[in-house]
Amino acid sequence: MTIAEERTRISAGPQHGLTADTYRSEDIWQQECRTVLAKNWVLIGFAHQIANPGDASPVTCAGLPLLTLRAQDGSIQVFHNVCLHRCMTLVDKPRNVGKLIRCPYHAWAYDLQGRLRAAPHFAGTGKQEFDGFDLKEHRLEPVRTHVWHDWIFVNLDGSAAEFEDYAAPLVNRLEGMDFGRVEPIGLLDFGEIETNWKLIMENFIEPYHVQFVHAATTDQPLEDHYTITDGNCIGSAVDLKQETGTAGSLGVSSRYLTLYPNFILGRYFPDQLGVYLNVPTGPGRMRQYRALYTTEGQQLSADEIEGLRQLWWDVHKEDHEMVERMFEGRKSPVAAGGGLLSPAWEDSVRAFQDLIERDLASTDQKEQTQ
Ligand SMILES: [Fe+2]
Repeated sequence: MTIAEERTRISAGPQHGLTADTYRSEDIWQQECRTVLAKNWVLIGFAHQIANPGDASPVTCAGLPLLTLRAQDGSIQVFHNVCLHRCMTLVDKPRNVGKLIRCPYHAWAYDLQGRLRAAPHFAGTGKQEFDGFDLKEHRLEPVRTHVWHDWIFVNLDGSAAEFEDYAAPLVNRLEGMDFGRVEPIGLLDFGEIETNWKLIMENFIEPYHVQFVHAATTDQPLEDHYTITDGNCIGSAVDLKQETGTAGSLGVSSRYLTLYPNFILGRYFPDQLGVYLNVPTGPGRMRQYRALYTTEGQQLSADEIEGLRQLWWDVHKEDHEMVERMFEGRKSPVAAGGGLLSPAWEDSVRAFQDLIERDLASTDQKEQTQ
């Protein structure tokens, strides 16, 4: 009996998905920003995009404007992207700020550690400080940050477990990966997608749709897949009996892994990796990027890289149509009960939804005791 058949055998009928409201409601989105996206480690950016000291990039997490910044010593820091003076956003597009982040409004300036260095004329012409206002006592508000290889994570409320513990179920499944040899070879920017970000996550962790949606772009038979549900690491895997490579279509053994809530990593044996940056921006809006990596230090030609970019562009576009239509379908009363989930292939989806429900409920408890 296969794993999928065994899971079906022990299930008591199909489980239901999350209610339609969980995807479409503005109130639940706000609640998600306070819980799911605040208390966990959320991916917000790629370290290689801010490679040099002074490189700064504005990002958003849980609807908040944040700033990722490379300091002089090479470390990466994340701050709230807001000036302490009039609360302007400081940096509005990726750029190198030099040694100081200067607010465009009244030229307040912060160094790359976030310390306030100038507040020109704040106390009168040519004067900055006065009794009760000392530059040294002010700095940009930092956000708890962890950089894991090329991936910048934040935990907004500071309450998550240490990243090493939080991510252990994922890290344990990447055994044999030599991260010292992982090199970025390209970044795809898919722009805005009109869906709820959870549908993108759910789509990634179930292998059921691959044969239908990606018939033209993949050669990975359903029967060779199995799902993975391991704490914060949820996904699926496929071990092929016959490998056909990645030229034109994807026909290699793969791991489709996530780190709850929004980190997605695809490992394609023997030598490729893809990481999705999923940025929820509202109940029905998100942005998505995919970084492509080689894992064995192999040199690819420009044509080979272009071929991979095209393959992944096509695969993602196939998924985007599905997740946008699932979001649209959730306007219907038919969707109120959440639809039906396969015990064989979508227990992973339900496991992700269980974590979402757990976190959403944590707000309710807090609000009830207030
Ligand atoms: Fe897909």
